[in-house]
Amino acid sequence: MSEPTSARAADLTLEEKAALTSGADFWTTKGIERVGIPSLMLTDGPHGLRKQGGATDHLGLAGSIPATCFPPAVGLSASFDPELAERIGVALGNESAIEDVAVILGPGINIKRSPLCGRNFEYMSEDPIVSGVMGAALVRGIQSQGVGSSLKHYAANNQETDRLRVSSDVDPRTLREIYLRGFQRVVEDAQPWTVMCSYNRINGVYASEDPWLLTQVLRDEWGFEGIVVSDWGAVSDRVAGVAAGMDLEMPGSGGRTDAEIVTAVRDGRLAESALDTVADRLIDLARKAQARPAASGPLDVAAHHALAREAAGRSIVLLKNEGGILPLRRTANLAVIGEFARTPRYQGAGSSQINPTRVDSALDEIRHKCTGGVTFAAGFTIGEEAPAAEEAAALREEAVAAAASAHTVVLFLGVPAHEESEGFDRTHIDLPAAQLELLDAIREVNGDIVVVLSNGGVVALPFADRVPAILEAWLLGQAGGGGTADVLFGAVNPSGRLAETIPLRLEDTPAYGSFPGEHGHVHYGEGLLVGYRWYDARRMEVAYPFGHGLSYTSFTYGAAAAATTAEGDVVVTVPVTNTGPRAGREVVQVYVSVPGSSVQRAPRELKTFSSVEIEPGRTAQVSLRIRRADLAYWDVRVDRWIVEGGDYVVEVGASSRDIRTSITVTLEGEKVTLPATLNSSIEEMLDDPVVGAELRASIEEKFGADSQLLKLLGNFPVGRLDGFPLPRDEMVALVERAQRG
Ligand code: BGC
Repeated sequence: MSEPTSARAADLTLEEKAALTSGADFWTTKGIERVGIPSLMLTDGPHGLRKQGGATDHLGLAGSIPATCFPPAVGLSASFDPELAERIGVALGNESAIEDVAVILGPGINIKRSPLCGRNFEYMSEDPIVSGVMGAALVRGIQSQGVGSSLKHYAANNQETDRLRVSSDVDPRTLREIYLRGFQRVVEDAQPWTVMCSYNRINGVYASEDPWLLTQVLRDEWGFEGIVVSDWGAVSDRVAGVAAGMDLEMPGSGGRTDAEIVTAVRDGRLAESALDTVADRLIDLARKAQARPAASGPLDVAAHHALAREAAGRSIVLLKNEGGILPLRRTANLAVIGEFARTPRYQGAGSSQINPTRVDSALDEIRHKCTGGVTFAAGFTIGEEAPAAEEAAALREEAVAAAASAHTVVLFLGVPAHEESEGFDRTHIDLPAAQLELLDAIREVNGDIVVVLSNGGVVALPFADRVPAILEAWLLGQAGGGGTADVLFGAVNPSGRLAETIPLRLEDTPAYGSFPGEHGHVHYGEGLLVGYRWYDARRMEVAYPFGHGLSYTSFTYGAAAAATTAEGDVVVTVPVTNTGPRAGREVVQVYVSVPGSSVQRAPRELKTFSSVEIEPGRTAQVSLRIRRADLAYWDVRVDRWIVEGGDYVVEVGASSRDIRTSITVTLEGEKVTLPATLNSSIEEMLDDPVVGAELRASIEEKFGADSQLLKLLGNFPVGRLDGFPLPRDEMVALVERAQRG
């Protein structure tokens, strides 16, 4: 690239500054040649490069150049391994650099509020720590190659229904602790070059013109130094956007909105200094892109495919494995059934759709490995058109016959592509009836069934107790076929964990009834209780809990120990022993609960995790750090994070419902002192550091040390009843003294 520009906003005309704030076309920004500002290309993202050559669109309709399709976030997040995610980020950055792409549009880390969200395949988790840790790792990897990432979609964009207008109505504590926490983590840890603001409104205000979201929280509180780019078409009022800190409108508006900005500055409706700030940030972005070291092309297709295969194997979650039916012996005689084995569903549809360099099918890869004979039968179709009844019956009969004569059945079930995509939400979480009927028909002739699932959003598993083994194989990218065969035959010991709960029924899910809202509003009525937080709080049965995933080996946990660091973090150590016959990875998970909390808390919340490789018979001393900041709750009274003092129960386990050891740590906390007023309650005044003791003494003197009285009347504001608990003038004087401190 050319020498980095030394231009500043001050060197540009008003028109030039305005021109910088919107795209030249669909994927590129405007350069200003006379001062050496280049035009930059931004393109999707997130699990591969989607650089369109000819026709352009943001829904993946027109083709793009071949690139490696890594596992989408739904798969990668299940690895619970930021080191792996970072390596994928490096590969994404490298592919972008080779193609001269300045910014790749990802990762997407929106919380999976409901399994119905059509884009869940592109998002990481129902938990903000998983989303934040995995997202930060991807960003670090991408940006290590001198390419920017775009953290998206900021924020509270948790559905596709009416996504360009809907208002996500979320209370402030939930917003901070659940929906913003992951974004905060990525910004603070990895400083993405860009953040993409979402289409929707948050509590009535468009994300693309919200100064609270884009400036106060993102920059002033979290220290974001990059630019905010609009999601494609997210701009409703461009001038308000500039004032709010929304730097770059994409795609371009053909100059219309640039002219609006110029007019607004001339009319005095927009401060030129606000435009200068935005222009300077955009010049900084250009400078960063210009500083990228030359990429060493051409793309190493084979190496990246191998990485995609490794990631695919690591993304698979072994949900169930009764009687050790897995791993399969290479000499087993297999019936491989289900169209997905031959025609893999390996990514979702929409703007993230990659044109892969190659695609492996599980059927081919199984055939490579298996020496005992493989019979394939499609069993069902996966197109949008249902087949004629006779065709469906013939497919089923052929599959049942294959199953009857095989030793073991590997049955590929899944969600057909047309049911899941960006742009619309699902209406149910069921597998197609034809597939469930096929499973039952096969069970009549052969019970040794290994189900392999292909799906972007979770599905109900009504057959879970009727088959001995289930592999949740998500959407695994272009090498998913190889990764699946690796796990089936034990070349890879499964270590994926559920980054989202698999519920028993849609009706059990937290947002059921309020998703996707109506008439322009969606009310996040479940509040903090998203995902496992909900099922645990309600003590509900689930099909498979958050964090669950089996291995071909077994692990035991010793007793956890915990120590507090000088910064107030909690370091947990736990010995984990591989007690089984083969090497494997354990994902050690640390949950925290605060039984005596003064605010609502979920029964347990994930605070940190680690994926550790352990040889058979060996013990690893696993050390995990809980950041003090992650123990904080958002206090709406004072609008800041508060770590309460008191006992924290630290639970260490193999899933959210498989806790193996726990320890209690007592932490010093911050006390929230609210300004005393006549509207403070008696209880609050009794807690006041200046006058509390005096008030208690007066009450006890007057009414006796009767705790029942305080229980009954403690929530009365001190100014409400004249004479109680003190005469009015004394009470006023006391409040004034408390205020003076
Ligand atoms: C999507 C973004 C994507 C953009 C560009 C939008 O429709 O929401 O995720 O990056 O298009 O394709």
